[in-house]
Amino acid sequence: MRAYDLILKKRNGEELSREEIDFLISGYVRGTIPDYQISAFTMAVYFQGMSKKETLDFTLAMIESGDTISLQEIPGIKVDKHSTGGVGDTTTLVLVPLVAAAGVPVAKMSGRGLGHTGGTLDKLESIPGFQVDLTGAEFFRIVRETGAAVAGQTGNLVPADKKLYALRDVTATVDSLPLIAASIMSKKLASGADALVLDVKAGDGAFLKELDQALALAEAMVEIGEGAGRRTTALITSMDQPLGRAVGNSLEVEEAIRTLKGQGPEDLVELCLTLGGQMLCLAGKAPDPEKGAAVLKQLIESGKALEKLRCIIEAQRGDSRVVDDTALLPRARHTLEIRAGRDGFVQRIKAESVGLSAMMLGAGRETKESEINLAAGVVLHKKVGDPVSAGEVLAVLHTDLDPGSSQVEAARQLLLAAFACGPEKPAPPPLILGRVDRHGAVRY
Ligand code: URA
Ligand code: CA
Repeated sequence: MRAYDLILKKRNGEELSREEIDFLISGYVRGTIPDYQISAFTMAVYFQGMSKKETLDFTLAMIESGDTISLQEIPGIKVDKHSTGGVGDTTTLVLVPLVAAAGVPVAKMSGRGLGHTGGTLDKLESIPGFQVDLTGAEFFRIVRETGAAVAGQTGNLVPADKKLYALRDVTATVDSLPLIAASIMSKKLASGADALVLDVKAGDGAFLKELDQALALAEAMVEIGEGAGRRTTALITSMDQPLGRAVGNSLEVEEAIRTLKGQGPEDLVELCLTLGGQMLCLAGKAPDPEKGAAVLKQLIESGKALEKLRCIIEAQRGDSRVVDDTALLPRARHTLEIRAGRDGFVQRIKAESVGLSAMMLGAGRETKESEINLAAGVVLHKKVGDPVSAGEVLAVLHTDLDPGSSQVEAARQLLLAAFACGPEKPAPPPLILGRVDRHGAVRY
């Protein structure tokens, strides 16, 4: 086989076989096929696409490039959740203890934030002492004993994706649906869960802005998951405005704790119960997602979900007193308010701008190497649909940077411009936009 012939075949719109795809991926990882040929190949995929079978084969070939994790030794049906990334997306922090409290074991491998979107590992590290670097053995032990653990990646999972993603990033081939679907699903499938719930974000703060694109990505990912023998359900959810009110690492931990105490913001609560209901259903702990959501609501009301968070924090060597006293979390030295210029209603809050503003305050990474400030971020006092009067606080910036610096001023301006207010009360923005499972796709 020659890489040249396979590039030509894909360029001409033909379908590659599993053997041909294996040849390309394994040759690329071993270094026998150079970057320039794989660049040409990914560009051909960008224009020609891949069939469902090719996309599955491509995913399986990428998984075979590295280690896979087996969760066999943990009893029960293990369900994982993945979000394509949003602004102020505090759901994992709430869902892990919540679903674990319902008896579903959660062995969660998470990542760090980049750009305007946050990452669960950074958020958890704002809890003093919390360890996310666990050995494989520790990770399994904590899941078995506590019901859940959240850690960075253990083992060398999908090295093909690391290499390929870096190449796509510099060759304008990131935004190819089959390549995105294979990239995300290879990592999820390699981490060993029996079933998956995917939260595919659509809207201003998501990397896919359009609902159609998000639905197509969800369909491709469900197709791969089911093709690999794992039950997979995807929800398409709105990322037009940030989720909840807090955006930033320790601010979101505080919001998650409040949510587990039954005092969470409406949209975050709804999303957690909806995704969690799907997870319980896939785990066989509820006959349907609605009944699953009702069970979870009860676990919040009884305080059992909060207790589970306490146990997870203790098991990962964090200071679990934060559950009772969130003042123990890092706090920024300075807060600045932005205020409404006139009376009316909040019409829109651009999620991406809020995320970028929080990043500029120190909450996020501009590049993979950037240091982050765990206390920095933004708290929204108003959300879309809320009435406001002139002079009322719309949002508060939290930062350790000099409040008089041009950086903070730029973040403040960006946040102010993210809000649009007008005289009319807008229709309540929908949160859950669609759902995809093995029976097909539904738009709400
Ligand atoms: N996230 C991933 O992990 N891979 C992609 O290709 C795009 C987003
Ligand atoms: Ca939030």
